Amino acid sequence: MSPTPPDADELEAVIAFVAAEARKYLDTVEDRPVPDRQAEDAAASFEGTLPEDGVGAVAALQELIEGGGGLVHSAGPRFFHFVNGGTTPAALGADWLTSTWDQNPGAWVATPLGGHLESVALGWLKELFGLPQSWGGILTTGATMANFTALACARRWWGLRQGVDVDVEGLGGLPRMPVFGSGYVHPSDTKALAMLGLGRDAVRKLAVDGIGRLDLAALERELEALGETPAIVIASAGEVNAGDFDPLAAMADLAERYGAWLHVDGAFGLFAALSGRSRHLVEGVERADSVIADGHKWLNVPYDCGFAFVKDAALQAPIFTSGAAYLPDPLGPKPTWGFLGPEMSRRARAFTVWATLRAYGQSGYRAIVEKHLDLAQHLARRVDEEPNLERLADVTLNIVCFRYRPPGYSEDRLDELNRRIGEEAILDGRVFFGMTEYDGKVAFRPAAVNWRNRPEDVDLIVDVVLELGARFR
Ligand SMILES: Cc1ncc(COP(=O)(O)O)c(C=O)c1O
Repeated sequence: MSPTPPDADELEAVIAFVAAEARKYLDTVEDRPVPDRQAEDAAASFEGTLPEDGVGAVAALQELIEGGGGLVHSAGPRFFHFVNGGTTPAALGADWLTSTWDQNPGAWVATPLGGHLESVALGWLKELFGLPQSWGGILTTGATMANFTALACARRWWGLRQGVDVDVEGLGGLPRMPVFGSGYVHPSDTKALAMLGLGRDAVRKLAVDGIGRLDLAALERELEALGETPAIVIASAGEVNAGDFDPLAAMADLAERYGAWLHVDGAFGLFAALSGRSRHLVEGVERADSVIADGHKWLNVPYDCGFAFVKDAALQAPIFTSGAAYLPDPLGPKPTWGFLGPEMSRRARAFTVWATLRAYGQSGYRAIVEKHLDLAQHLARRVDEEPNLERLADVTLNIVCFRYRPPGYSEDRLDELNRRIGEEAILDGRVFFGMTEYDGKVAFRPAAVNWRNRPEDVDLIVDVVLELGARFR
């Protein structure tokens, strides 16, 4: 075979092919079984060694699409597991342009548009969430890297309070950084602490019950006992099993009284700020020192996108700066985003964030959030009406935590039955809601954040659980 290097002449065929295939996909995504039945086999079909000669662009894409018979259609309306958002039409279009333009907003000179739109997008997001415009921030790959960024700022602050620049000198010689939170602290925060050299088990979880609700009195005792020693408090705005919130305002009171750093992980829950019906849940968030959220969840932009906001913007640059003669001047007048967050070269995520906010505005996003609040209440009502279903938690936001519970079953057998229903539901494919453990019980916790979700999709969750439950009883 003759060699097949990239050729600009292929682009016309590639664009036509991809546009037609994307259209076919998007026209059918609402009707497909959520995981393709052959998902595992299709994934496994991509094997073999690196070919010496290529097949050309369209043929390679064709192979990818055929293997794409192995997709899980989480972009569609019936995927309720994890907290996976969809992609708005504006975000999808902007994301295609982002790849087409291939800009690198790590350095301003490489893309003034990408660099500037990151400032604009972050400003709009602060407005959306009610955070002060004076705060710093950055777009990240997701909530985990946003937590990493924010907690790196917390670590710097904590070191400086003890006269140590940890970003220059490291952590050697310092005591362990005290970190507190409720039982709701997300594993992404502990992962970030691990990556920061602070240790995965750094967080003291102060909970009043097996669910994980914060023991506020214990938090006060711990902070008081530390005296002048600075500490970090992690608040969870939106817990993943039932969508509950830590009491942010009360935690902000304690953080202010005892001089602690308050970090709020609001990966999806920060969007409660968008509606008057849920805003009370994030009351006090503007008094935190750092706040994060995800873009690929409730903002409905494609993977990957998250945001970190930091009250003291001056903390970012000394942590993330980097220098070499060919790189930008870190002290230059324009933001060098590659020196304000963990990645140097980076995707121009601002195009997508800006485009979707420009397309739908505050009212469009309020409508998305309120639709999910309504869907969650609708699902809760359906669960409550069914004698064989048991709701396990109040519905605070967009998650409904429940299980199948026919009469006469012991707890052990209930766990086994619900696990079986959960596993079979994934194979069944009509709707995807996954499983969790809540208060020691195997449970379902569908979370609605995709703009495509409809009432009939959440009804299907109830129908499928009842049908499979009756089959396995
Ligand atoms: C509260 C919370 N924090 C952090 C994360 C991690 O987000 P990502 O997967 O975008 O890194 C999640 C993901 O579900 C989350 O719900």
